[in-house]
Amino acid sequence: MCGIVGYVGRKRAYPILIKGLKRLEYRGYDSAGVAMIGDDGGLNVYKSKGKVADLETHCEEKDTTGTTGIAHTRWATHGEPNSANAHPHYSASGRLALIHNGIIENYVTLKENLMKRDIAFRSDTDSEVLVQLIEYIMLSNQLDLFQAMQVALHQVIGAYAIAVLDREHPDTIVCARQSSPLVVGLGADGEYFLASDASPIAEYTDRVVYLNDGDIAVLQLGKRLNVVSLSGERQHPKVRQIDVTLGQLEKGGYPFFMLKEIFEQPQCIRDCMRGRINVEGDRITLSAVIDYREALVAARRIIIVACGTSWHAALIGKQLIESLCRIPVEVEYASEFRYRNPVIQPDDVVIAISQSGETADTLAAVDLARGAGALVMGVCNAIGASIPRLTQTGVYIHVGPEIGVASTKAFTGQVAVLAMLALCIAKERQTISDELYKSMVRELTLIPEKMERTLQASEHIEKMASIFTYARNCLYLGRGYNYPVALEGALKLKEISYIHAEGYPAAEMKHGPIALIDSEMPVFVIATRDKLYEKVVSNVQEVRARGGRVTALITEGDEQIRHLADHVIELPDTIDCFQPLIASIPLQLLAYHIAVCKGKDVDRPRNLAKSVTVE
Ligand code: M6R
Repeated sequence: MCGIVGYVGRKRAYPILIKGLKRLEYRGYDSAGVAMIGDDGGLNVYKSKGKVADLETHCEEKDTTGTTGIAHTRWATHGEPNSANAHPHYSASGRLALIHNGIIENYVTLKENLMKRDIAFRSDTDSEVLVQLIEYIMLSNQLDLFQAMQVALHQVIGAYAIAVLDREHPDTIVCARQSSPLVVGLGADGEYFLASDASPIAEYTDRVVYLNDGDIAVLQLGKRLNVVSLSGERQHPKVRQIDVTLGQLEKGGYPFFMLKEIFEQPQCIRDCMRGRINVEGDRITLSAVIDYREALVAARRIIIVACGTSWHAALIGKQLIESLCRIPVEVEYASEFRYRNPVIQPDDVVIAISQSGETADTLAAVDLARGAGALVMGVCNAIGASIPRLTQTGVYIHVGPEIGVASTKAFTGQVAVLAMLALCIAKERQTISDELYKSMVRELTLIPEKMERTLQASEHIEKMASIFTYARNCLYLGRGYNYPVALEGALKLKEISYIHAEGYPAAEMKHGPIALIDSEMPVFVIATRDKLYEKVVSNVQEVRARGGRVTALITEGDEQIRHLADHVIELPDTIDCFQPLIASIPLQLLAYHIAVCKGKDVDRPRNLAKSVTVE
């Protein structure tokens, strides 16, 4: 989704803004732009379609002086990706420039009203309406920018994070947020950084303020941060410490972030368990479970809301919680849940899973559940994001920033957290024996080492990948805990290689998809030695009987499937419910290597955004 960067200080703004935009490239975008108040007092706006590098080329001969500026990467919603629709947008008189993330729902009405007042628009975007409205209010009521924004935003319906420059006040940015994240970094010497997430800020300062919905903030060089609510009340923002290192934001020798993040998984799962599983490796402590023990023990139902990969993790969480805690669990797409008037009871516990903690639909589902009186718990990665702040409790997955658009380490982190959560709740509810509990906790501690062994298959998978680049469709099959792994494997392939892929519960295949099977259709089967192994073997036979080409993920040493499959990838053995932590890795690698073979931009797949902050 769109990205915002801003700087007010004593240094030259342009290089900081460009570097910041590059840090945000992972979010997905189609055009970029920058605005600075130059040394001569002029407000300069430069924009271009394409990558940040294209914007840099466009700016080569331009005046990029000035110590105050804002910059933006756009992911088109209203109006095609071109330089006119790229942000920043000038106001009619050219005095203001604005950048916006989000969607303005009533922009048509606002635009019509402004056009009746002879205000001409230069773009097809909903965003431009904001800058025209703000300037119109400012000039017709003789207000300053901050006051005009307070009035204007009362007329706006929708989601926004905005930052505005006023040529008349060259040391100031005024910004505001509603349902779209905005972080202010407090730098040295009275300078300020602004961004849609902490990644462009992290190399300059570790002191940040996360703005809340309805906040309007004035960032003025050398002056105290001034934050006021839309209704005019002064806010007392909490300064937080961010814990993101530069190394985490860079590729560290890997060709793509996605590969780096796949290889980071063993360490990520260690980090995720650190301080939660004791050194003896037989007890898990989660503060969310301690703090909300009563509600969790008494929960009549758990509803998990999520989107995309996080929804796949939720499907694994459902099986874990139902089998260990004996609490019924429903898994919902947040986008469906929020609009279908669901029954939510005060003794329900709602778990919102989101890597970014900013997904618009998941956030709306959180709001809905809170409104209905349920206990809402977040399972997120991005520290301080909206979902962790809006939920009563939560468990961070602690896997570090995930930059690749295709989620990898966040998925396994989510599964690890859900496994720990299920074990903790089961212990509290006494639905698990001591012996089983301890053996499962011990097995969980062995997962990172098993992930390391699994990663050794990368070269083998890389060689195999070229065989599949011709494919137009692929089928992924799995059962039980491996069914969501099949869904996730298919999603990874679609996202980055643009090959159509479907995940199916293996037994469901004969109810339809079997019609598609022929020698042209690669079939990937997760066939590890678990409770449903024999049944999956039968499903593999069914594929073979129709001439299908099978690649099977098998447990180390399994000879039975080896003879039925065209290709095999061996995995270390573990208990059924932890198998997704291992089995998802070769499927991530497969998708990665196929996409690389096809020459795709793995970290920035077309049309996709890392953080989906619009519904
Ligand atoms: O940040 P979230 O976990 O809420 O994001 C949800 C989905 O947008 C995300 O998982 C998406 O499906 C990824 N591109 C998957 O690789």
